[in-house]
Amino acid sequence: MPIDFENITDHTGVRIYNFDAAKNVDEDDLNEIKKLMQKKHFICFKNQKLDEDSLINFCRNFGNLESYPEKNKTKKNIQIFNVANISADGEHLNENDPRVVLQKNNSRWHTDSSYRFYPALYSLLFGKETLPKEASGGQTQFSNMLLAYKSLPEDIKEKLKPLHQVHSYNDIRRLEPSLPELTIDEKRNFPPVTHPLIRVHPDRAMEKSLFFTSNTSLEIGGMSFKEGKELHSWLVNFISNEEFYLTHEWELNDLIMWDNRVLLHRVLPYDYSKYRRAMIRGTIEGTKPVYGPFSQIN
Ligand SMILES: [Fe+2]
Repeated sequence: MPIDFENITDHTGVRIYNFDAAKNVDEDDLNEIKKLMQKKHFICFKNQKLDEDSLINFCRNFGNLESYPEKNKTKKNIQIFNVANISADGEHLNENDPRVVLQKNNSRWHTDSSYRFYPALYSLLFGKETLPKEASGGQTQFSNMLLAYKSLPEDIKEKLKPLHQVHSYNDIRRLEPSLPELTIDEKRNFPPVTHPLIRVHPDRAMEKSLFFTSNTSLEIGGMSFKEGKELHSWLVNFISNEEFYLTHEWELNDLIMWDNRVLLHRVLPYDYSKYRRAMIRGTIEGTKPVYGPFSQIN
């Protein structure tokens, strides 16, 4: 049966009802999913039945999975990232627990793994426990950076062209000082990297998009610290625009998948002590650095 989808917004996202990600995927379906990702950057597969192993199996259709530096993130697989305010054993964690502090940091705009030299391609997030309907917050919100780039004034596009941002896993501690220090190995594995502010998309005829994050640093490089902070704030304000948004209202057993090369995302804050929110994420490893306007691609 062909995959049946509905568009979520004109620019971003489709919803699919008649698909089981826990089964082996045939080639036609896989091609269809890849085409939809290329075109709409986000898919929500409704009513899935997944655990860590079956999520990993589904993810492998799209490439290798990243593994994660922090210990105790998950139950058994190092490739699964617990996006949760509960522990891998199901305990509702205190608001000051580092695992919850990391969740709070995710309410800043970001793409997954921007601190890696090859940042993540796709993320696949499965909602195991979602907030009740009456709760406020907890949505995952996306902003489309192809659209944001197109909407930039020409003089700003020129200004941004040569600029980079430093992305550092360790520097999350500048934003969230209560996080424990990384081990020497973790620091060695993830040294700071820089990525261009304007990136080009290899699957979309090198179409340009904006690329920056707010969860690892709050300034742009190549200028004074003060100017770098001001430019960063200007960019946050610019992309925080409903015209670029897709806001995912979670329902239990949704599996969402997005292209980190196009969409920034954040979780909308919720009452972390009152509600449980638990998702597991598989992340498809990037295979290329972030190409910018001056990259030698061929
Ligand atoms: Fe994220």
